[in-house]
Amino acid sequence: MDKKILVTGGLGYIGSHTCIELINNGFNVSIIDNLVNSEITSLKSIEKITGVKINFYMVDLTDYNKMKNKLENENFDIVIHFAALKSVSESINFPEKYMDNNIGSLKNILKFMEYKNIKKLLFSSSCTVYGKPDSLPVTEESIFKKPESPYAETKQISEKLIDEFSNKFKQNSISLRYFNPVGAHDSGLIGEKPKGKPENLVPYISETAIGLRKSLSVFGSDYKTKDGTPVRDYIHIVDLANAHLAAVIRLTNYKSKKYYEVFNIGTGKGYSVLEVINAFKKVNKVDINYKIVGRRKGDIDIIFSDNTLSRKTLNWKPKKTIEDMVESSWRWQKNINR
Ligand code: NAD
Ligand code: UFG
Repeated sequence: MDKKILVTGGLGYIGSHTCIELINNGFNVSIIDNLVNSEITSLKSIEKITGVKINFYMVDLTDYNKMKNKLENENFDIVIHFAALKSVSESINFPEKYMDNNIGSLKNILKFMEYKNIKKLLFSSSCTVYGKPDSLPVTEESIFKKPESPYAETKQISEKLIDEFSNKFKQNSISLRYFNPVGAHDSGLIGEKPKGKPENLVPYISETAIGLRKSLSVFGSDYKTKDGTPVRDYIHIVDLANAHLAAVIRLTNYKSKKYYEVFNIGTGKGYSVLEVINAFKKVNKVDINYKIVGRRKGDIDIIFSDNTLSRKTLNWKPKKTIEDMVESSWRWQKNINR
């Protein structure tokens, strides 16, 4: 196949898992990352798992000239743009930082693609673009409601910029709207490694189970859901990585008449916070110390996907269960705390 892909944010959680699937399927991958939320060990792990040496560029994407100089002599067929800051709470405290980094990086990537005549883009969007949906499950046609955080707003703006850019330059772009990625690679060599205190549920559960955190706070039990705790559509990271592979294959082989396409990437099933905690306890035979506290700002009660379009059009389907998700998360946590 030998298509060349530039992966921004490729040392992060989703990027690293995706690079493995791409390399294992014959794609040639180069990574740009500034390590603001990842570690260089992630590069070594990808190389170890795949047995392939990767071109790595340590560049901040908000610095256009540096990026251009570093990549001047490279040619790429596709860009996958993962790089972004992703903490919802940090974005509420520092909205400008999120606009500057997430929108600034995307604009530079689009400028670079125009300069290098790269015609295919795959972008990391999020179900957060739907806000608090009017009806469930959400389809790709569901409208964007008010963003619940500046982070969510950066994803709405990004999608709009990519839509306009793709139509203007008649290039094919795809945004994948991820639901809640969890779990780790089967090798146990890569997974999610939050810097500092985890913000997301499953990493917090894992760190509580291993003893790094005293107790998990469950944010609210008075939502209108099956047990009062919020419901999300958790998706295994390897299924999510394979959705990128499917989207890259679509961009490579098929010229869609629609220049900009979007796909929901979720399992279509919703689990409550308590259901996730209980699955983790049961599968891994560990205890989780938790207490119910007040609601967290910016949380919605329930969201899960309709993934019909991605199943049909991308020829992709999620294969892993909630049990696989919590089992691989725990295996990864034990590996990094050995
Ligand atoms: P991550 O933080 O693990 O990975 C992002 C990577 O981008 C990191 O390695 C970071 O160092 C890099 N980066 C950030 N800003 C950069 C910049 N200016 N220049 C160069 N590198 C930069 O996050 P992730 O979970 O892998 O998320 C990847 C993408 O998916 C992000 O766009 C995120 O918003 C989106 N997303 C994530 C989730 C989730 O729950 N993890 C859900 C929906 C969407
Ligand atoms: N939760 C707790 N305690 C915690 C952490 C989370 O009870 O310590 C609860 C939250 O209140 C929420 C659920 O667990 O109800 C899931 O929370 P996460 O933080 O794991 O995930 P979110 O649904 O809030 O958001 C995630 C990503 C966002 C992304 C969004 C949609 O963090 O970046 O999914 O893709 F935008």
